[in-house]
Amino acid sequence: VSILKAKIIHVNAGAGYDIHIAKGVIDSAGELAAAVTRSRRAAIITDSSVAELYGGRVKKSFEAAGFEAPLFAFPAGEASKTHATLLAIYAFLARSEVTRADMIVALGGGVPGDVAGFAAATWQRGLDFMQIPTTLLAQVDSSIGGKTGVDLPEGKNLVGAFWQPRLVVCDPDTLGTLDSENISCGMAEVIKHACIRSRKLFDSLKAHDRIDGNIVETVMANLVIKRDIVERDERERGERMLLNFGHTLGHAIEKLLDFRGISHGGAVAAGMALMARASERNGLTAPGTADALDALLAQYGLSADCGLDIGDIVDAARGDKKRSGSDINLVLLKDIGESFVYRLPVDRLRPFFGV
Ligand SMILES: NC(=O)c1ccc[n+]([C@@H]2O[C@H](COP(=O)([O-])OP(=O)(O)OC[C@H]3O[C@@H](n4cnc5c(N)ncnc54)[C@H](O)[C@@H]3O)[C@@H](O)[C@H]2O)c1
Repeated sequence: VSILKAKIIHVNAGAGYDIHIAKGVIDSAGELAAAVTRSRRAAIITDSSVAELYGGRVKKSFEAAGFEAPLFAFPAGEASKTHATLLAIYAFLARSEVTRADMIVALGGGVPGDVAGFAAATWQRGLDFMQIPTTLLAQVDSSIGGKTGVDLPEGKNLVGAFWQPRLVVCDPDTLGTLDSENISCGMAEVIKHACIRSRKLFDSLKAHDRIDGNIVETVMANLVIKRDIVERDERERGERMLLNFGHTLGHAIEKLLDFRGISHGGAVAAGMALMARASERNGLTAPGTADALDALLAQYGLSADCGLDIGDIVDAARGDKKRSGSDINLVLLKDIGESFVYRLPVDRLRPFFGV
């Protein structure tokens, strides 16, 4: 596949960068990287599963473009998004003599993206990094916007940095090897983007039963929605909060279930559904919105009901980091495709949800 066929979305954040989207473009990753860096050393950081599937191809592509391309893989999964992995990555970077003039390449889903991105933000006080997202979630969401970080035993994503990539190479063909659970996880974020910003995307998701047929267009529509929000509010001081739709309750659900028995996407789906239902009841959301959302979630294998008691979820949500003082910021839908931040005193949270 020629890189000339790739669609390009420019993101005006950090130093400014392009996202190249095309089926097969992963094999041109090295060539594209060579155009944005003078360095000829690219440290590829990935997880064990992605290394097996795509590590060889990506390494080959960088080597063909004249890079030295040492590769480091850590065990796949969220459990690896820790300081222990970060330390192992630093040791690898030291061994590979990676300097500030070189480049880090994050290959994989949101976990390699977040942890390798944080390594790039901190190694020798920061070096260029590039994202090659291979999960739907990473392609439509986590690979752009510059949020990087690791989890702590005390909570997810507690340590991190804003560090924008220099380049994103997004190959929808890689989604062909992703299991249905991870596709659903990504779909929760796709549906979130449609809910907060685009009725057109919402309707197009309704019209197709699966995303395979128009995957490039779907990924692009999502990237444009996220790009526009990030460009206007890189550091999440206002508008970027809209991207948290469904996440305040979603995180509470994950916490209550101890991050087992429900996927992140499943929790976000239930969080969105509960929020839409409650705000509709409070007269803040157009009637029928919650039903339309539930139906679309079901269409993509996501359930509006996580089986937990709403009172318990609301109580768990009170500790969310999106709290500011005695208020909590809720992201609500005015209608499908339109969203706003609603500030609510924490002690009004239970009545808002009718508990
Ligand atoms: N930085 C951000 O803005 C942002 C946004 C949303 C989520 N996140 C973070 O992203 C993480 C979740 O991302 P994720 O769901 O991609 O998790 P992940 O990176 O763990 O990937 C999920 C699983 O899919 C496997 N996989 C990846 N690509 C594959 C492929 N093409 N074929 C087959 N298997 C493949 C991985 O090995 C892993 O087992 C969370 O830690 C979350 O906090 C970050």
